[in-house]
Order: sequence, then C-alpha cells, then structure tokens
Amino acid sequence: MAYVTVEATRGLGTELGPELGTDSSGEFCRTVLEGLSQSRKILAARFFYDDAGSALFEQITTLPEYYPTRIETALLTRHAEEIAALAGPGRPLVEFGAGSATKTPLLLRATGAKRYIPVDISGDFLEEAMVPLRALLPHLKIEPIAGDFTQPLALPVLGEACSGFFPGSTIGNFDHRGAVDLLRAFRRMLGDDATLVIGVDTRKDRATLEAAYDDAAGVTAAFNRNILVRINRELGGTIPIEDFDHRAVWNEVLGRVEMHLVARRSLTFRVAGRSFAMQAGETIHTENSHKYTPEEVRLLARAAGWEPLGFWTDDAAMFGVHVWTATGAAMQP
Ligand code: AVJ
Repeated sequence: MAYVTVEATRGLGTELGPELGTDSSGEFCRTVLEGLSQSRKILAARFFYDDAGSALFEQITTLPEYYPTRIETALLTRHAEEIAALAGPGRPLVEFGAGSATKTPLLLRATGAKRYIPVDISGDFLEEAMVPLRALLPHLKIEPIAGDFTQPLALPVLGEACSGFFPGSTIGNFDHRGAVDLLRAFRRMLGDDATLVIGVDTRKDRATLEAAYDDAAGVTAAFNRNILVRINRELGGTIPIEDFDHRAVWNEVLGRVEMHLVARRSLTFRVAGRSFAMQAGETIHTENSHKYTPEEVRLLARAAGWEPLGFWTDDAAMFGVHVWTATGAAMQP
C-alpha cells in the first residue's frame, strides 16, 4: 500500500484530518478562512464538535443506518474477555478522543483496569461523560486530560505498561499518511510495552456506506450543516445555510466516504470580514471517513510501530476491533 513509506510518516496532520486545535477561536478563524480561500473549499472535520455538534453526533450513533457504533459495541461486549486478555489485564487505560465514553466500561470491566486516562479536546464534554462512569465503576481512578491527542501529551502513566483505546473508527478521519503519523505518536506517548485496542470501519458496498452518512431522518445533514451554523455564530458569518445541500459520497479509489456541503445556487457570504463567492453546485468538503480492509489495517499497524495481536469482526464483516502491541523502539519521524 502506498502509505507505507518513509515520506508518509513526515509531519502530523493532513488537509482534512481532525487535528483537534486547542480551542482558541483564533485557530478556528485562521483555519476556516484558509480552507474557504482554496479553489476547492475545505473545512476541518474537527470543527464539527462544538456542543451542538457533539450532541448531533451522539444522535447519529443511534441511527438505524449508522452501523459502526452498534457493531463495535456488540464486538466489545461479545469478545470483552479475549480482548482484555490480549490488551493486558490490570493496565492503566488511555482513551484517545474519549467523547461520551459509552463503550469504555466494557473494556474497563473486562481488563480490571484501576486507572483510566481519557483524553479529549472538550474538557466540558469530558467532565460530563465521567459522571455516569464514576457511578458505574466507583473504584476506578479517573485522570482526565483535556487536550489535543494529535499533539505529544504528557501522560501520567510513564514507566508503566499501559493500554490505549481508540474506538469508533476515528482513525478514518485522517488520510493514510496522517493515520500512520498519529498511530506512531500514540506508540511514542504510550511507551515500549503498550498495547492498543482500535476500532476500524471496513470497506464495503457503496449503498451501505452512503446511507450511513446520509440518513433518512436528516441527522447527518444537520451535523454537517452545523459547521456553518458555528461559523456564522463564532466568526460573524453570513453564510445562507439553507442554500447548502448535504452530500455524502463513497470515493472508492481513495477508500473514503466524503461529506460535502453543496451550494444550491451561486451565492456570496462574509466570514470574519472577508468575502467569499460560490457557484451553483460548488462544494465545501467537510469530512473524510476512510475505510480499511483488515489486511490494510495490519499494514497500517506495522507502518506505525505496532504488531497485530488479534482481530474481531461481525458475521457480515462490517466493522473490526483490533488489538496491537508496540514493536521495538518506534522510529523517529
Ligand atoms: C466520529 C469520525 C468516526 O467518520 O463515521 C459520522 C463521524 N460523520 N457521521 C465517522 C461522522 C458523519 C464519524 N467519526
């Protein structure tokens, strides 16, 4: 596969990767203006997740068309003991992009972890998510870190063998190079004796994929448009949101579902004092969600300093849960 190259490992972050910024609206403003100024307009997927966007995403995870959450939860439930045995019982668990952390108790229970270190860009969301977890597992020591997991983070587990948890196929938001970079960074952050439990969505037929990102109830469309709502609110934008259609398309060559916002007519708007124009049919590319065959996942692991230990999937091979172990000292980028 093309991404398994030395060049591929240089420089974290990609055009559309969710390189979760550290919240400063200055960074939001700069990145949005830059993306809208390109000949093919783009917005970074990480900006979906303000309060409204996080709530819409939670709603997406319950939609009949959006299979990833349901199937991953079933896999973690059904195979918790085997997964925990490979990941290593009793180790501190570090979760990257913890969000609402609904699947985590399955793993925490099975491994018998005594320490849990959730990392999330939204400190507020993190605090809220920890309330039910504290009630569920009162003896668990929770040490949340509000931070950007694409940046090197000082984890409070140094010197101790720990496990990482990266569910939900969040890895799919990164392009292949960005994915290798990120997994290599996890390897460095977690240390030489680490294991990683990672959920990855599988390549499959167009109809299933496109329905998962364009549900009948229109929740994903609202999630996609919410990024424009946010720009109008936070950056003094005048974007005519109702003049944009939601589009989700499976790009088979690049192995990703792309989300776009399509201008219904030629239009102009302002953001942070700058003017923009779009032709009818022109799009703003808002998200990539890459899908991998299990073989591609194994190549991804090895390119990033990990060795696959185990893999579980459902009968229809819709989604995969993988356990990896760190291999010899990670190469420097
Ligand atoms: C949270 C990035 C895994 O790509 O499936 C869901 C986000 N976007 N519906 C995904 C998402 C549209 C989701 N991830």
